[in-house]
Amino acid sequence: RPQARPLSTPAFVWTAMRNPLAIWGERAYREPVLRDDWLRVPTVVVNDPAAIRHCLVDNAANYAMQPLRQRILRPMLRDGLLTAEGELWRRSRRAIAPVFTPRNVAGLAPVMAARSAAFAERLAAEADAAPRDVANEMTLLTYDILQATLFTDAIAGEPVAFARAMDSFLHRMGRVDPLDLLDAPAFLPRLGRLLGHRSTRYFRRLIAETAARRRALLAHDPDGAPQDLLTLLLRADGLTPDEIEDNIITFIGAGHETTARALGWTLYLLACAPAERDKVERELDERLPSLPDPRDWADALPRTRAALEEAMRLYPPAPSLNRMAIEADTVAGLEVPAGASLLVMPWLVHRHEALWERPGHFMPDRFLPENRARLDRFQYIPFGVGPRVCIGASFAIQEGVIALASLMRELRFDYVGARAPHPVQKITVQPRDGLPMRVGRCRVS
Ligand code: HEM
Repeated sequence: RPQARPLSTPAFVWTAMRNPLAIWGERAYREPVLRDDWLRVPTVVVNDPAAIRHCLVDNAANYAMQPLRQRILRPMLRDGLLTAEGELWRRSRRAIAPVFTPRNVAGLAPVMAARSAAFAERLAAEADAAPRDVANEMTLLTYDILQATLFTDAIAGEPVAFARAMDSFLHRMGRVDPLDLLDAPAFLPRLGRLLGHRSTRYFRRLIAETAARRRALLAHDPDGAPQDLLTLLLRADGLTPDEIEDNIITFIGAGHETTARALGWTLYLLACAPAERDKVERELDERLPSLPDPRDWADALPRTRAALEEAMRLYPPAPSLNRMAIEADTVAGLEVPAGASLLVMPWLVHRHEALWERPGHFMPDRFLPENRARLDRFQYIPFGVGPRVCIGASFAIQEGVIALASLMRELRFDYVGARAPHPVQKITVQPRDGLPMRVGRCRVS
C-alpha cells in the first residue's frame, strides 16, 4: 500500500503546528490514495476523483467532521454551520440555504462593487509609493466588504474596536494548540484561547447587540431594514438567537480570510505571468464600459474569473477537508477502519500529477467556459463538495471577480519580493512573509 512520507512523531507534531503543507512527500502528489498512521490514528488521504465522490457524496453519512478540526474550531464557532453536526447541521443548513439564493447574492453585488471601488481609489491615491503587503491589503478589503454585506452600517459606531477584536479572534482561530493536537482533556487550559478571551467576549457581545437592534428594527419597520446578510439571516426560519449569532461569527470566520487569500494569490500569479495579466486587462478594458451593473460581472468577465479559479487551484484557500470514518469502509481498494481520519486535500488534488497537465503551471485557460467541461467535477474542489459544500461559494466568486475587476481596471500590481512567497497552512493557505508588491497607477481608463 502506498504510504505518505514517514515522519517521526515529534517531527510530525512540530510540522503540523508550523505548516501542515510540509508534511506531504512526493508520493502524496502521485498516488490515488495513501494510508499512514499519525499519532496512532490511521489516516487515509484521498486524491482520486471517483474516491472523493464516494467519501464526500455517495457515502457522506459515514464521514463525520474530524475531531481535531472540531476541537480547534468549535470553541469559537460553536453551533455555526461549519462546526454543527447531525440534526443541528441539517436544520441549520435548511434554514440558511435561502440566505444565499442567486437572487440574494446578486443583490449584494452593488455593495461589493462600491466598497471595492473605494478601496481601489485609496490605493490609487497612494500608488507608486513604497511596496505594500498586498496579502494584508486584501484582508482589509474583504473585511470591509464582509462587514458592509453583513451589517450595512450597523456597527458604524465601533468599526475600529470591532476590527481589532475580529483580528484577534481570527488570529486565534488559525492557531493549532499542541494540547488539541494531542487530544488532551478539554479542562486543560489552551494558552491561545485564554489570551484571546477578552476580545472574543467583546466581539460576541457586539454581535449580539447588533442582532438585537436589527431584530427590533425589523419588528417595527420590516420594509425599512437593509437587505444585508444580517437581515436575511434574522428572517431565516428555524434558528434560535444563539444559533444566529454563531452563524454570523461563522460567516466572518469562514468568509473573510478565505476570499482575501484567493485575491492575493491571484494578483501575485498574474504579476508573475504578464501575458495572462494582459489578457485580463484587455477583457476589463473592452467589456467593463458596457457592463454598468456589477451583478453581471461574475458571468460576463470569463478571463478575470478564470484567473481567480486557477489561483484557487494552485493555492486553495481552504487546503484540507478533514473527516473521520464512522464505520469501516473501502476506498479505491484501500481499507478505511472505523475511527480513521480521512483527508481530502484540495492542496494535493489540485496539484496531482495524474489529474492536471503541467500541474505546477499557472494556466487560467483551463477554466474558460469552453474548457471547463473537460474537468472532472471532483478534481477541482476549492469549495469542497457534497452536502457540506461551501454555502458561500457563489458569494465568494462574485466578490472575487468584482474586487479583481475594480482593482485591475486602474491599477497594476508587481511582485517585488526577493524570493517566491512561501505558502503555509494556517487554516487558509497564506504567504508566510506576505506579498510585497508595488502598486502602480499605470492603467488609466
Ligand atoms: C464551507 C471554502 C468563502 C461560509 C466551506 C468548505 C470549503 C470552503 C472548502 C467545506 C469545508 C468542509 O467540507 O470541511 C471556501 C473558500 C471561500 C469561501 C475557498 C472563498 C474563496 C465563504 C464565504 C462564506 C462561507 C464568503 C459566507 C459568507 C461557509 C460555511 C461553510 C463553508 C458556513 C460550512 C457549510 C456546511 O458545513 O454546511 N467553505 N469558502 N465561505 N463555507 Fe466557505
